[in-house]
Amino acid sequence: MSAPSMTLFHSPASPFVRKVMVVLHETGQLDRVALHTVNLTPINPVDELNQGNPAGKLPALRLADGNVLHDSRVICEYLDQQHVGVPLIAKEGWSRWHRLTLASLADAIMDAAVLTRYETFLRPEDKRWDAWVEAQQGKIRRGLANFEQEHMAELSSVFDIAAIGVACALGYLDLRMPDFGWREQQPKLAAWYAQVSQRASMLATAPPA
Ligand code: BEZ
Repeated sequence: MSAPSMTLFHSPASPFVRKVMVVLHETGQLDRVALHTVNLTPINPVDELNQGNPAGKLPALRLADGNVLHDSRVICEYLDQQHVGVPLIAKEGWSRWHRLTLASLADAIMDAAVLTRYETFLRPEDKRWDAWVEAQQGKIRRGLANFEQEHMAELSSVFDIAAIGVACALGYLDLRMPDFGWREQQPKLAAWYAQVSQRASMLATAPPA
């Protein structure tokens, strides 16, 4: 086995990092990447992460030639072009745009959940804004309802970039918003998640409790 040629700037709790890790597992590329863990918050930049990545986005992937790719969408697309198996992102046709749009909705759920986490955990208590948190949670509820009502067949048909995104978003809700109660409202999504969370790629990337 050759030494990893790329470095993934990584934080084990980030759902966006997990998406990249699941793609690495699913496409058999884990051994190409060394993990470099950073402890990042919005008010605590990490100098090393900012090199070639001025906004300090996480995840970031430093390639063998020193170029840095960010964010998770770009990295996932790059990695998907680096293997010979079935692509996780459809190459062309309506399927490409439709599945990328579902993946975008999954990312929006992650975004809203991470922003909720920052507001309820990081921001000083006297500066917290309940209406803002409620608005973020509204995005999550509407996104999950949309998957439940309209997209279960697509999610169940293939574990591609859209399904990986939804699985990582649900994993993050369970980690950081365990009382959110999404399963009661979304029983089909809950049954699907129970299944996909047993995949080797999901088990191996489960965030620390
Ligand atoms: C978290 O601890 O919830 C977290 C860490 C990094 C990025 C996003 C979320």
